[in-house]
Amino acid sequence: MSSSLAKIRILLLVAAVFFGGAVVPTRCLYFNFPSFPNNSTEHLKLSNNAKIFKDAIQVTPDVRVASIANESGRAVYKVPFLIRNNGKIASFNTTFELNISPVSTPVGGEGLAFILAADGSRPGDSDGQWLGIVNASTNGTPEAQIVAVEFDTRKNFPQDIDSNHVGLNLNSVFSIIEQPLSEFGVNLSSGISVFAMIRYDGENISVFVSMSNKTEDLLKNNVIFQALNLSILPDNVYVGFSGSTSDFTQLNCVKSWQFNGTDVSDGRHKRLWIWLTVGVVGGVVICGAVIGLVYHFWMRKRVLNYPEEPYEGIEHQLQHISIAPRAQKFGLRELKKATGNFNPKNGLGKGGFGTVYKGNLMNRDVAVKKISEDSRQGKQEFIAEVATIGSLHHKNLVNLIGWCYEKRDLLLVYEYMPNGSLDKLIFGCDKMGASSWETRQNIICGVAEALDYLHNGCEKTVLHRDVKSSNIMLDSKFEAKLGDFGLARTMHRTDQTHHSTREIAGTPGYMAPEIFLTSRVTAETDVYAFGVLVLEVICGRRPGNPMDLGSYDGSIAHWVWEFHKEQRLVEAVDERLEGQFVREEIEYLLILGLACCHPNPLQRPTMRNVLQVLKGEANPPILPDERPSFVWPPMPPSFKDDTDSSLKDSQLTPFTELSGR
Ligand SMILES: *[C@@H]1O[C@H](CO)[C@@H](O)[C@H](O)[C@H]1NC(C)=O
Ligand SMILES: *[C@@H]1O[C@H](CO)[C@@H](O)[C@H](O)[C@H]1NC(C)=O
Ligand SMILES: *[C@@H]1O[C@H](CO)[C@@H](O)[C@H](O)[C@H]1NC(C)=O
Ligand SMILES: *[C@@H]1O[C@H](CO)[C@@H](O)[C@H](O)[C@H]1NC(C)=O
Ligand SMILES: *[C@@H]1O[C@H](CO)[C@@H](O)[C@H](O)[C@H]1NC(C)=O
Ligand SMILES: *[C@@H]1O[C@H](CO)[C@@H](O)[C@H](O)[C@H]1NC(C)=O
Repeated sequence: MSSSLAKIRILLLVAAVFFGGAVVPTRCLYFNFPSFPNNSTEHLKLSNNAKIFKDAIQVTPDVRVASIANESGRAVYKVPFLIRNNGKIASFNTTFELNISPVSTPVGGEGLAFILAADGSRPGDSDGQWLGIVNASTNGTPEAQIVAVEFDTRKNFPQDIDSNHVGLNLNSVFSIIEQPLSEFGVNLSSGISVFAMIRYDGENISVFVSMSNKTEDLLKNNVIFQALNLSILPDNVYVGFSGSTSDFTQLNCVKSWQFNGTDVSDGRHKRLWIWLTVGVVGGVVICGAVIGLVYHFWMRKRVLNYPEEPYEGIEHQLQHISIAPRAQKFGLRELKKATGNFNPKNGLGKGGFGTVYKGNLMNRDVAVKKISEDSRQGKQEFIAEVATIGSLHHKNLVNLIGWCYEKRDLLLVYEYMPNGSLDKLIFGCDKMGASSWETRQNIICGVAEALDYLHNGCEKTVLHRDVKSSNIMLDSKFEAKLGDFGLARTMHRTDQTHHSTREIAGTPGYMAPEIFLTSRVTAETDVYAFGVLVLEVICGRRPGNPMDLGSYDGSIAHWVWEFHKEQRLVEAVDERLEGQFVREEIEYLLILGLACCHPNPLQRPTMRNVLQVLKGEANPPILPDERPSFVWPPMPPSFKDDTDSSLKDSQLTPFTELSGR
């Protein structure tokens, strides 16, 4: 039995690594550079003569070099933009601030362009008249694969209308449509910033240019409106700027840039593809883990002599649980009617153990969770849920209105949460994805209050065991409500020194490293999951996704710790917050999040400490500069639980690499 448990642990560990890598967020391409500090180079791909200097992109060399004549440069966003997928065409909006200062007299040259290009690097010999977009051999040919909106400051072809115009160029330096800007009161080479907005709706492109940064002024100057078919470009393109100088020279600066493009990636296909690449190995491992678990529970059942009928005795068990009178018993027929016979159209989401439907009961919107019949743990989770939330009451816990058990159907009825779950708020592509700092801060405080209540505030300690963003619901005022107590366990206060359970449960990415060794869920493992959640909410990143995290180890905690080490924590903050926060507050919270994710459970703050920090009653814990490595058993040793025979050194060796990198 204990060797089978050890096997399950190994399998789950491996499965966790695979799962962590397989969850790829499908996100729209969105970024905002209010200015370009030196470190913005990590988000950009610059040709070797384009530089960041004075908080701007210098697309062609700036005054620091001896000669700025006959140069071209290109600067693009590092992540390509998917413009087309399965017949779907993306749309985008972008605004930017250009600053062109003529260096040669009388006026400068040559120009600057916003580009969508197959290639992130500039073509050779593209200086001078070629604007860095094409060269003499690619000009006008399909291999150029570029669409450019040029801001031309020099008339050097008969085709050029004047030396102060905007044009739309397809694979060529010659424009298909041009518009002089002087009549709009815009002088590109005046040395003063020019603001531009470009919109593409999938069919037509609109260009707006103004010397004023006010949106209403910009919208008055629609200088170009043109049907545009992007079929000359590949599916993935780089977006950015190119520019050039000749004997006529100028400084080509981009001082700010915002881009917002829609997401046409097919999430399901993408995920499927990744599943395929994760492939046989992952599949085998996961199946192994599942079979192991099933075997484990089957053995337990036999040992504990559970009745074979999965739902038998529920009524009896519930009688012994004190349930608040608010939670009432419903009939199956009532709930069928409320949800349109569990119409998939009313589906709100699928959880680990069942499907949630929206319904209307007694003129009140409710969420009805139908526990899936094939869920082996269905009954257990049903009882856990009714026993915990049914008997607890806190403003940051989801409110259980009632339940139903009839035939083989187990159902739970909750208050309806109009704003869905927290993960949708953070990772959704809609406008709310960029929800304000205050909202996010309030959500973190709400979750902390709920957990403190569970750990310290109620009669018995309750471990939630599955704290994660998809289990946090948001009411109409975006107040956080912790839900999904399917894995929760109640501990008696007398167990307090080592309240723990012996089943591996939780969600990869949120599980503390020691869980894989001890299979024990403790208050400290809830704190760990909370820490991950805090980092996730502030950084706008999934808890574990190596593909998103570049070369770092999968976990978000490792990722944030690197920023801490280099004392630039604030750069880990979600860029969609657009700098709208108090720097000190957000750094305190990131430090608190890291402290909660301390590899050593004994070094993690308690939820009570966490709450004190959040309320400003205590300072955040002091962190070492380097991420501590995971050492087991933790120092100082605290486990007095002699009965725990699984903690033998020989069994631990394979796991010590878990966070050693
Ligand atoms: C720039 O290129 C032009 C045309 O090739 C050439 O005549 C001129 O001398 C070059 N200028 C410099 C400063 O290299
Ligand atoms: C671009 O802006 C327009 C008007 O503000 C808006 O309707 C559209 O949804 C935006 N598109 C994107 C991709 O943000
Ligand atoms: C022109 O650009 C193409 C594509 O980038 C490149 O292959 C070619 O070498 C360039 N021509 C010259 C003369 O540099
Ligand atoms: C634009 O401004 C520059 C510098 O002030 C000036 O020399 C030039 O004549 C202006 N051009 C137009 C078209 O007004
Ligand atoms: C693009 O412009 C054409 C012509 O004005 C118009 O008929 C069409 O509806 C526009 N497309 C979109 C998506 O707005
Ligand atoms: C764009 O061009 C491609 C290839 O020429 C064509 O198949 C497609 O229908 C065009 N799209 C639109 C919206 O006109």
